[in-house]
Amino acid sequence: MISFVCFLSWDFQKGGFIIRVTILCAVLSFILFFSFSCDFLLGDDQELNEQKNEALRISFDLPQKEGDVSVEEALYKRVSSRSFTDKPLSVDTVGQLLWAGQGVNIDGVSGATRTSPSAGATYAIDLYVLAGNMNEVAAGLYKYDTTEHDLIQLASGKLDEELASAALGQGFIAEAPVNIVLAAVYDRTVSRYRERGERYVHMEAAHVAQNISLQAEALDIGSVIVGAFDDEEVASLLQLEAEPLLIIPLGY
Ligand SMILES: Cc1cc2nc3c(=O)[nH]c(=O)nc-3n(C[C@H](O)[C@H](O)[C@H](O)COP(=O)(O)O)c2cc1C
Repeated sequence: MISFVCFLSWDFQKGGFIIRVTILCAVLSFILFFSFSCDFLLGDDQELNEQKNEALRISFDLPQKEGDVSVEEALYKRVSSRSFTDKPLSVDTVGQLLWAGQGVNIDGVSGATRTSPSAGATYAIDLYVLAGNMNEVAAGLYKYDTTEHDLIQLASGKLDEELASAALGQGFIAEAPVNIVLAAVYDRTVSRYRERGERYVHMEAAHVAQNISLQAEALDIGSVIVGAFDDEEVASLLQLEAEPLLIIPLGY
């Protein structure tokens, strides 16, 4: 501050006051412009990263790569279940089901691959978890992060009654301790395959759903595929940017 006053008075005495004030204004404008530009250019990414870092995350143990039930037995026993008990699902059971649907698998030829195939490895399906009755996890809406193999909390509180009502009143959705919602980000696939991409996204959803169903069967967990619901109601209830395609209620 003292040097600032000296700077101005020194200039004033020498008659260069206006020139020096102009230089000062130019420097201040540059600093303001620079900081604004940084915010403008980095703002979105910073905001996203901050949101991601600040969000509550639920981590899972590493998924099991071996089990007691063969693929053949799971296929043979698979059947839709529409009635569930009060028994909660454990965190790691939910992690195992999500991994079966979209988990990162071994390294493929062109990089890491997943438990479900995807047209051109575009991976259009995101998995959301509506937790109503999970051990040690608050009721709420979560999104599966495939790379971290964990859940990111998006909202808290029970929403299963509302989800059941958006699914034409199918009450077993509210009974299930957990619902996994498969939602499509079409553009990931359509931008590469144009109109054919839409077919691929639906096929991909079916692969993901079947993996989850078979994993559920192998863990002795009941499940059913639900396609009958009001798209807009479900999307708005879960505040999805993706389009909901299937709901899978799961429980004992
Ligand atoms: C794409 C699709 C959508 C479905 N939608 C519903 C649904 O909204 N509600 C329901 O109770 N079952 C639904 N199901 C489950 C079928 O009704 C069930 O698979 C069929 O009756 C055969 O019975 P199973 O699965 O026990 O073999 C759906 C299945 C598929 C594949």
